[in-house]
Amino acid sequence: LNLILLGPPGAGKGTQGERLTSSEPLEYVVTGQILREAVREGTELGLKAKGFMDAGELVPDELVIGLILERVRSEAASDGFVLDGFPRNIAQAEELDAALKELGRDLNGALLIDVPDEEIVRRLSGRRVSQSGRVYHVEFDPPKVEGKDDVDGSDLIQRDDDKPETIRKRLSVYHAQTEPLVSYYEERGLLHRFDGTQGVDEVAAHLRKTVSTLR
Ligand code: AP5
Ligand code: ZN
Repeated sequence: LNLILLGPPGAGKGTQGERLTSSEPLEYVVTGQILREAVREGTELGLKAKGFMDAGELVPDELVIGLILERVRSEAASDGFVLDGFPRNIAQAEELDAALKELGRDLNGALLIDVPDEEIVRRLSGRRVSQSGRVYHVEFDPPKVEGKDDVDGSDLIQRDDDKPETIRKRLSVYHAQTEPLVSYYEERGLLHRFDGTQGVDEVAAHLRKTVSTLR
């Protein structure tokens, strides 16, 4: 089962992707998390990506596409994958299609989690994350112990790009560059829409129900 998660910043891709892949044996590939790790480790990729991420812009295709397609082609993804944060523009979607065609595999669905812009700033300003990428919200999805990750007890922090002005930039980049993917996948009969304003558990239940029909 090969799936992609689509949606604006703060829609809940990470929240739902984590849940979906903890109950299904699917390789979970989170582009933003891979890039944030590279920034933290100060790798060549990280040094190149940092400025774009801090500005809320997309990291250039030539840095991202090869990196993610390598994961798609990997042994770990041979039983299926969930891509979170990729593709993010038409060029990336076309490269993904070409890679899957070469592998003789199909995309089974593009799951769009929809949330209006006005809700997003509220979501992202209350977001807290652990270094390993688990996602919480101080109000809507709090950890068991305040400020600590449920799984490993590490400190929760705010992401550098969750400042109001960067959030607005990420939203405008989403509308200009990523939203065209909605019709791209609609035309291919792959798009499934979910109302992301519902509670975390409700969205999860709707996703699970749809995913069970896609096999
Ligand atoms: P990325 O990390 O992908 O950020 P994003 O798309 O902006 O998405 P977010 O991670 O902010 O939101 P999310 O949808 O995962 O929501 P979450 O579950 O955390 O990308 C970051 C940067 O990396 C980009 O700006 C770009 O520079 C670069 N990049 C990444 N991919 C790239 C690519 N393919 N090409 C080029 N550059 C790329 O939830 C948000 C908050 O809401 C949390 O606090 C959560 O607890 C809460 N919440 C979730 N669901 C609900 C709910 N139903 N009700 C109430 N609260 C909820
Ligand atoms: Zn995310």
